[in-house]
Amino acid sequence: MSIPLVDLAAQHAEIADEVSAGLAALFETTDFIGGKAVEEFERDYCELLGVPHCIGVANGTDALELALRAAGIGAGDEVVIPANTFVATAGAICRMGARPVLADVDDESLLLDPDRALAAITARTKAVVPVHLYGQIAPIDELSVGITGTGIAIIEDAAQAQGATRHGTPAGSFGVAAGMSFYPGKNLGAYGDAGAVLTVDADIARRVRLLREHGSERKYDHEVVGWNSRLDTLQAIVLRAKLRRLAEWNEARRAAAARYDSLLAGIPGVRLPVTVPGNVHVWHLYVVRVPERDRVLTALRAAGIGASVHYPTPVHRTGAYRDLGYRPGSFPVAEAAAGEILTLPLHPHLTAAQQDRIVTELEAALR
Ligand SMILES: Cc1ncc(COP(=O)(O)O)c(C=O)c1O
Repeated sequence: MSIPLVDLAAQHAEIADEVSAGLAALFETTDFIGGKAVEEFERDYCELLGVPHCIGVANGTDALELALRAAGIGAGDEVVIPANTFVATAGAICRMGARPVLADVDDESLLLDPDRALAAITARTKAVVPVHLYGQIAPIDELSVGITGTGIAIIEDAAQAQGATRHGTPAGSFGVAAGMSFYPGKNLGAYGDAGAVLTVDADIARRVRLLREHGSERKYDHEVVGWNSRLDTLQAIVLRAKLRRLAEWNEARRAAAARYDSLLAGIPGVRLPVTVPGNVHVWHLYVVRVPERDRVLTALRAAGIGASVHYPTPVHRTGAYRDLGYRPGSFPVAEAAAGEILTLPLHPHLTAAQQDRIVTELEAALR
């Protein structure tokens, strides 16, 4: 039997009745754009995660772009991001005519290295986007201290960190705003594309609401040029049902991660993921480092294990971002890690027997 990286069918089985009832009610009202379901999801998200404003949008990439725009970042500005992230972090910045400036990551956590991020700041820097990669919060404290008094904004890329906290504070409440993705495989995933901007700032919340809705607060009264980037009503129904399980599912992920840690400890060659002290990790991805990663990955896949790599190529080595002007060797930690990182299947419904098999296959592949 193969073991998938994520098991969305098992998640659906838990919420199928709620989703069916929600969809049936929606088909009655035919309230397909916006409406009660979106408002209820936004409200529940704020209550559950303790973030004052949640504005549902079409996807996580739009969430980042609209958050940046609402925070006043624009064409010609520089925005510092980590070299090890999904390309969407850079894409959202390029799309608005701003320039992503990369900084290397920390060799232990693979999160943005705060010293390198601060060293990358220039007179044109308007924002830093720490990415809460793999499910834990990036070193936001050091960044905040380093930019105090500069006017530089922190916009969190919290796409992978639904429910993560640092010293009790949830992802999405550290910077002026955060972009969240509800891509299906995320800890809180929709049944298609969806995202949200979270913010502690009422003005930013208002501007994002304008931007997502053709620049208008009232129908046919358009204050600014906007987008059509609304959270789909059907997705809001799914997300609301899943939100009620998020804490429990994140707990199950933590238990599975702890179990991996103990099963893998002592296996020669495996470098375990590290949780930064003060963080409550939500284990969106369980990423180990191994020698000869590509060979190991091929062996695992041949054995039916849905292992993967997040991400095989650092941003500056991908075709779309070569013209940023970086060279091979510009970000040695991210570049070395890209050849070693290996994501093992981890999701709330992963069984102990599946984990045992994954570890046995990994051990065999490493021999
Ligand atoms: C770190 C990170 N940033 C941004 C995104 C973009 O989100 P989306 O795919 O919803 O546009 C993702 C998700 O894919 C992500 O993992």
